[in-house]
Amino acid sequence: MSRILITSALPYVNGIPHLGHMVGCLLPSDVYARYQRMMGNEVLYICGTDEHGTPSEVGAAKENMPVEEYCTKYHNRHKAVYEKFNLSFDFFGRTSTPQNEEIVNHIFNQLDKNGFIEEKTIKQVFSIDDNRFLPDRYITGTCPHCGYDKARGDQCENCTRVLEPTELINPRSTISGSTNLEVRETKHLFLKLPELEKELSEWVKTKEPYWPDVAYSIAQKWLKEGLQERCITRDLKWGFSVPREGYDDKVFYVWFDAPIGYIGISKQWADEKPQERDWCSWWLDAKDVYYVEFMGKDNVPFHSISFPATLLGTRENWTKVDYLKGMSYLTFEGGKFSKSEHRGIFAEDAIEEFPADYWRYWLMSNAPEASDSSFSFDSFAGVVNKDLNGVLGNFVSRVMKMTASKLGEEVPAGGELQTVDVELIANLQEKVDNYLKYLKEMEFRKALNELRAIWVEGNNYISATEPWVVIKENQERAATILRICLNLIRIFATLSAPIMPETAEKIMAKFNMTTEGLLLKNYDIKTEINALKAGQKFTIGETLFERITPEKVEELKTKYGSGQ
Ligand code: 2FM
Ligand code: ZN
Repeated sequence: MSRILITSALPYVNGIPHLGHMVGCLLPSDVYARYQRMMGNEVLYICGTDEHGTPSEVGAAKENMPVEEYCTKYHNRHKAVYEKFNLSFDFFGRTSTPQNEEIVNHIFNQLDKNGFIEEKTIKQVFSIDDNRFLPDRYITGTCPHCGYDKARGDQCENCTRVLEPTELINPRSTISGSTNLEVRETKHLFLKLPELEKELSEWVKTKEPYWPDVAYSIAQKWLKEGLQERCITRDLKWGFSVPREGYDDKVFYVWFDAPIGYIGISKQWADEKPQERDWCSWWLDAKDVYYVEFMGKDNVPFHSISFPATLLGTRENWTKVDYLKGMSYLTFEGGKFSKSEHRGIFAEDAIEEFPADYWRYWLMSNAPEASDSSFSFDSFAGVVNKDLNGVLGNFVSRVMKMTASKLGEEVPAGGELQTVDVELIANLQEKVDNYLKYLKEMEFRKALNELRAIWVEGNNYISATEPWVVIKENQERAATILRICLNLIRIFATLSAPIMPETAEKIMAKFNMTTEGLLLKNYDIKTEINALKAGQKFTIGETLFERITPEKVEELKTKYGSGQ
């Protein structure tokens, strides 16, 4: 058994997640965690809200609330909606906890002791009308690299480059819109990335065979351009205090404490049950841990460069990422999701419209892996109606109804296997091996294609063997076919469980069973096709999926802004 540490990028607490966030790291990491657990591995799957910095201060000010209260309110909203999507975190924590502060301080002190922190006097943008410095998101302007006119002071969303506020062209205050700005001098602490560049570059090189191209090439691009010293403090109130004299009005930069948050949240998890949970064994000198991080592509620089460099500079043996799954973006009908412009469907609304598995299946089938992908209600309805209702749902109900009406509500005994049955087993085994290989490699679109092909095998088998015809002449043979089909239903439930956990549970409930203990390790169709024995009762129960009508699609388009 291996130990697999999985983290999903920590969503900003102020942003209500839309489908793009769901598929950008949360869902893929959940599917992977579920897959690894079903492979019999020990998994620690961590996520939480990223709470510090300007996004929360700006959000709290808009809602006229103390920032702590604001963060708690939105943390709870995130937590609630992720539970509805059945994200199976071992722990969903927060970055603003005392546990995280303790680790941030420890890491900072180590870096300082090892000579990787430097104080510098720098020029910062000061807003005269707002009477304050304008770090990060408090300033907006045109990106000097790509010309995007809504670039923020910390990063350009368009070209993903990390920026300094003073680099922006035509800067303005995000708070007041004022352009009455001046540059003033102030002291800040910097992480001396150039001094860590050589060993970081050697470390990144060792990842070439493993990291996906998108992640490796972003890291290489940064290294080629040469690393700059990174400012790790900010002129803000909301954040962890900096243990240095003269830093009373400053806090650590959110991007310094957020990735350390993966460790802080693990400590938060362990502190709940200190007798049973040992966060250190996952994070320090952990030789047997394989660490996988999921994130959107804009997060890759932080996870492949600044966070590993931070950990390297401690001269302690912290667990660093082994595999980094960087995802591209999901667009909404080809454009951006926007809460303020009422464009796109957000997770809280999505889950009120349809069960989690409809979304989980569509999103994972269309995961933006190699390139961006686009959500549309037409595609969503098409996929739900065709794959879920038409292929999987139809197979389950057809087999159960046919067996119940011809032979009763239990698995029939039947007889020996014939050539067509043996061929089915061989075909399925090949597809299952591919499916599991793709899940292991986190090639989600390919995995979902294979899963769909596995369901189709079931439909092809029943069409080819025609048990409803055979039964007129040879009841035993029809019973064999239906016994095989009922076992296929259980196999489909097991294989679908990482993607559609609720559906898997519903299917198993039809056999008065649960998904607990179902494993994918050494998955052998020859064995699984005989798992349900003759006499095993089942109930047809409710249908698994409802068709989405064209009227409903039109209603959704109007409600959520397509084509407006
Ligand atoms: O881009 C984002 O949404 C960040 N909140 C991700 C942080 S990931 C980690 F470093 F905490
Ligand atoms: Zn840009």
